[in-house]
Amino acid sequence: MKPTDVLKNEHVHIKEMLSILNKILGKIGRGQNVPVEDLLNVLNFIKVFADKCHHGKEENILFPAMEEAGIPRYSGPIGVMLIEHEEGRRYVKAMSEAVEEYKNGSLNALEKFMENAGNYISLLEQHIWKEDNILFNLADENISDRVKMELIEKFEEFEVKEIGEEHKKQLKILQALKEKYYSSR
Ligand SMILES: [Fe+2]
Ligand SMILES: [Fe+2]
Repeated sequence: MKPTDVLKNEHVHIKEMLSILNKILGKIGRGQNVPVEDLLNVLNFIKVFADKCHHGKEENILFPAMEEAGIPRYSGPIGVMLIEHEEGRRYVKAMSEAVEEYKNGSLNALEKFMENAGNYISLLEQHIWKEDNILFNLADENISDRVKMELIEKFEEFEVKEIGEEHKKQLKILQALKEKYYSSR
């Protein structure tokens, strides 16, 4: 198992949550009721599992190792990935604000949520595609086998330190939302 396999596996779960979010947008668009709790759970998964833990592993561990292997950070593909992580954070922040505004009775809040969530889904889907098909190949080809083993250990340490038990808890929440939304219209 390579460090990029760990990240690719996390991409699978992130994409599952994106498809749940897409289903939720469809429901909101058709005027169906979606519990605020579900929106908050999706947002929390994105913040904790996708951003803090997964993007954290990329930004703090994988990308620096790629840099040490001679791939420049601020020009080229790593720089693009970093910019896209930041862009994603802005959409997530706007989605969180929209949920709060919705709870306070704002009429435009759902529209704001849908617009930012739609942008986030498009951004992340193509971001993940670029990592899976381009960036991670660069990492696999340029990082030595010794460093690859170290990176897997560092990922594990990072996960325990940053989110600990939340990792399992978030996967359980994902599973529950999959059961609820995958089969629904
Ligand atoms: Fe990324
Ligand atoms: Fe990623």
